[in-house]
Amino acid sequence: MDKVAYLQTWGCQMNVHDTEKIAGVLRGEGYSFTNEPEDAALIILNTCSIREKAEHKFLSRLGYFKLLKRKRPGLQIAVSGCIAQQEGERFLIDNQYVNFTFGPQNIVKLPELIRRDKRKAAVGENPALAETDLPAVRNDGTRAWVNIMYGCNNFCSYCVVPHTRGRERSRPMDSIVNEIRNLSDTGYKEITLLGQNVNSYKDPKRSVFNNSSSFPQLLEAVNAIEGIERVRFVTSHPKDLSPELILAIRDLNKVCEHIHLPLQSGSSKILSLMNRKYSYAEYLDKVTALRRHIPDITITSDIIAGFPTETGQDHDETLAALKEIEFDGVFAFKYSKRRYTRASEMEGQIGEDVKSDRLKTILELQDVITDKINRRLKGQKVEIIVEGESSSDTNHWTGRTRTNKIVNFTPEQSIKKGMLITVTITNSFRHSLEGRPEGLMPVTKSN
Ligand code: SAH
Ligand code: SF4
Ligand code: F3S
Repeated sequence: MDKVAYLQTWGCQMNVHDTEKIAGVLRGEGYSFTNEPEDAALIILNTCSIREKAEHKFLSRLGYFKLLKRKRPGLQIAVSGCIAQQEGERFLIDNQYVNFTFGPQNIVKLPELIRRDKRKAAVGENPALAETDLPAVRNDGTRAWVNIMYGCNNFCSYCVVPHTRGRERSRPMDSIVNEIRNLSDTGYKEITLLGQNVNSYKDPKRSVFNNSSSFPQLLEAVNAIEGIERVRFVTSHPKDLSPELILAIRDLNKVCEHIHLPLQSGSSKILSLMNRKYSYAEYLDKVTALRRHIPDITITSDIIAGFPTETGQDHDETLAALKEIEFDGVFAFKYSKRRYTRASEMEGQIGEDVKSDRLKTILELQDVITDKINRRLKGQKVEIIVEGESSSDTNHWTGRTRTNKIVNFTPEQSIKKGMLITVTITNSFRHSLEGRPEGLMPVTKSN
């Protein structure tokens, strides 16, 4: 059981990628990995605190690991991620069986934390974060996540992220490009650039002279890397979506025609209380501009139901927005009160039942819209990158369109994981499409 680690992750893509780095650091320390916590000498739980539900899932899992440790006192248990950062020292005091904790900025300290006997919460600010490149263990082989910035300065009033991930820091463009070149050399085809607000990315080496975002320039540099076929990015904040970025998505052939652009609410009053810094009309203008320049772009979004003071009228404005915009898909959540956030102290908190009802109507409406949009795709030929066996049905394989839609198909011998192929869409469902492979020639963006 020497040097075997078990890792579990909750939360966003950023956190999933942090776990890849935790694994990279551990591998450097001679660790191997197991899927069975019972076989591990070290357990690291990489946590999320975006909503109460995420926190509860982690806490109930932690209870199980506590029992494991009772049987096996030598077991090391560590907690990382956003809950570790948010709770700091207090978490160690309340959970005596946890050996150490570390926040998202302190993965680099892992080798030292594993070795020390004294318990510690490594939750300090790390000003060198954006300049410190850690190795990552990636298992996919085709698609990779790459950090371009860390932290968030937006302080949306409901959100813990600025409190858990610290201030916004962009990674130098040349380190990003180097990492992606290496990924391309080892066969990776699709890159997703990660940040809480990617369109405010500023190359720290250029921003000394120029205060504007250099995200479009970064996209251009990544687009030029040979061997990479597709470039994606998450997440974009509507207030920073510039005309230059829209043109970059249009003109750069590898940059995919999909944007995740969280709206949060269709009511400008609620948007202002959320501190989102745009009105619904301004958001709609950005969507209109995106669609004018890139007619086949897919747009997905996030919605929060039942933010403090949200009235039936505000909720109706959200429904009207969904109808007017017709997103390809929406992640909707009940507002969840988070520690340290301004919204948690606002008057007019909404009851759980009302939040649940509003969430339900949002999801039902969006289902109808997604269904309608996907039905229009029937008969079209699209390019997909083959991702391999479908997780829900082993008789089918799955791939993704440039517009980020999942297509399932019956595999043929000549088709291998990582290939770009053309399929004709034969059927559509709410969360996926069905396709028929048409051969190995990809359809390419014409420019
Ligand atoms: N940086 C990203 C969002 C990261 S959090 C952005 O600004 O777009 C992902 C989503 O979780 C948010 O878009 C929001 O819809 C939701 N979310 C965040 N805090 C929440 C809370 N307290 N309650 C409910 N949903 C929340
Ligand atoms: Fe949270 Fe807003 Fe930052 Fe997104 S932009 S991480 S919602 S504070
Ligand atoms: Fe969760 Fe932290 Fe991501 S709170 S959503 S893991 S930034």
